[in-house]
Amino acid sequence: MSVHWWRNAVIYQVYPKSFLDTDDDGVGNIAGVTARLDHLAGLGVDAVWLSPFYPSPWADGGYDVADYRDVDPMLGTLDDFDALVAAAQARDIRVMIDIVPNHVSHRHPWFQQALAAPPGSAKRDRFVFRNGRGDGSEPPTNWLSRFGGPAWTRIADGQWYLHLYAPEQPDLDWHRPEVRDEFLDVLRFWADRGVDGFRIDVAHALVKDLDEPLRDAVALPLASAMDDIAAMPDHPHWDRPEVHEIYRDWRRLFEEYDPPRTAVAEAWLPSARRVRYTRPGELQQAFNFEFLYTPWDAQRLRTVITDSLADAHEVGTVPTWVLSNHDVVRTVSRLGLPTGTDLQAWLRSDGHDPEPDLDLGTTRARAAALLQLALPGSTYLYQGEELGLPEVADLPADALQDPKFFRSDGAAKGRDGCRVPLPWDTSLPAYGFSSTSPWLPQPQHWADLSVATQTGNRDSVLELYRTAIRLRRELSLGDELRWVDAEHPATSLAFRRGSAMLVVTNFDGPPIELPEAEVLLTSGPLHGHKLPADTTVWLAAEGTGT
Ligand code: GLC
Repeated sequence: MSVHWWRNAVIYQVYPKSFLDTDDDGVGNIAGVTARLDHLAGLGVDAVWLSPFYPSPWADGGYDVADYRDVDPMLGTLDDFDALVAAAQARDIRVMIDIVPNHVSHRHPWFQQALAAPPGSAKRDRFVFRNGRGDGSEPPTNWLSRFGGPAWTRIADGQWYLHLYAPEQPDLDWHRPEVRDEFLDVLRFWADRGVDGFRIDVAHALVKDLDEPLRDAVALPLASAMDDIAAMPDHPHWDRPEVHEIYRDWRRLFEEYDPPRTAVAEAWLPSARRVRYTRPGELQQAFNFEFLYTPWDAQRLRTVITDSLADAHEVGTVPTWVLSNHDVVRTVSRLGLPTGTDLQAWLRSDGHDPEPDLDLGTTRARAAALLQLALPGSTYLYQGEELGLPEVADLPADALQDPKFFRSDGAAKGRDGCRVPLPWDTSLPAYGFSSTSPWLPQPQHWADLSVATQTGNRDSVLELYRTAIRLRRELSLGDELRWVDAEHPATSLAFRRGSAMLVVTNFDGPPIELPEAEVLLTSGPLHGHKLPADTTVWLAAEGTGT
């Protein structure tokens, strides 16, 4: 096995509650992932990344962990987990898991102990407890929760504790050696069980500037870390320089294993700051969310691709490419909406204002997928992306679970619409996901999108992904990308990958005359020798003369 397998891997994100339910409670489980590993093997992915499955009160989709060394009984047991790892390894699929180090669940024993202990005690010091301002009734700072409202909650004895997310997710104090040691031990626990890598939740948040007096931040309600940092580069709780020490410790631990364990940071930061997490001796990768957030625009995507490659190369790694995950509106819907649509407002309209053009969204998502899979570096796919699932924007309010919805008083509808359980087989109840009602209702318009319906249909999104991932592997494209002059450069991109492939994407421009060359794969029909708008083609480079 190559120790650098992650450098050009296709990694498939499983949201376990929504993948497959094998124990008839309407909630997916670990055994469900094992049961459908053949779907992942057939897709050709190199690794699977599991979103949290730990014991949790599920106040934030499991990103509120009550025990870092176990599986939530609703999702299975440690034995189920071991069986999954063994079954994945038997198919040459590596397993990555989510690690959530910034905060724990309020049900975690440490937080329960902290609540029971007096102010100033060692048990409280694992978290960030402070007295309030003024007469104590004002929060210690103006820091805001990412889900809305203040980032501080007051407890019965008058102290406040910090939570950058929900109040059920108290932040740890990473200045404490005990906290650092605990997570090194947790990483070891899973690495010893055969886990190949880790996805690090909000990797840029762990260290806060806690020098007294605490500093206020520029308060931007419901803003992203990107916005916060743009407004305040020396931000008190995002991307503190000291955070890098933690990842240097983690990397040393990863290197003790054979093959070394790998990690990808979730760090919503501008590229130049994000790549610092992947310097030699730190983490191997960090998610590149610019690709996800850039509209369907040739010039802007070219800039993102060029900069991402340069930034990654500068620190000796390769970029990651992400179009979707469990936190964002699904690609088909996003690309089917007019450029510049305010997605939060669109979700509040239950997905009707404006009405997305799902045919266009699907056409573009297909073209985007072939563009993404042709780029050097690794690609992260989110479950259901390979089926071309759109967002379920019209979930009724009483079905919603995301704390973002509750904490923002409905100003943000939240992320449930991309977490609806997968459709496996349209002829079965709950589309084959479960024998009972799924924990989030599936929409009728998914009837044509199940795995069974798409399998064998050459024009389906699923078969496009299967073919593309197979070809990508067969062609061994290396790390280099060379831009080629394209016809209509304002509306198209063209690049060579190694000596094997020429890739052309026509975004929204006039048809492009293609060179004489074998068509390896196309995301949509060609018009004779012309590439129409919203289409990507992979051509055999030999003889193209380009
Ligand atoms: C990350 C996760 C998100 C979660 C948050 C808090 O951004 O992807 O789902 O709500 O961290 O843990």
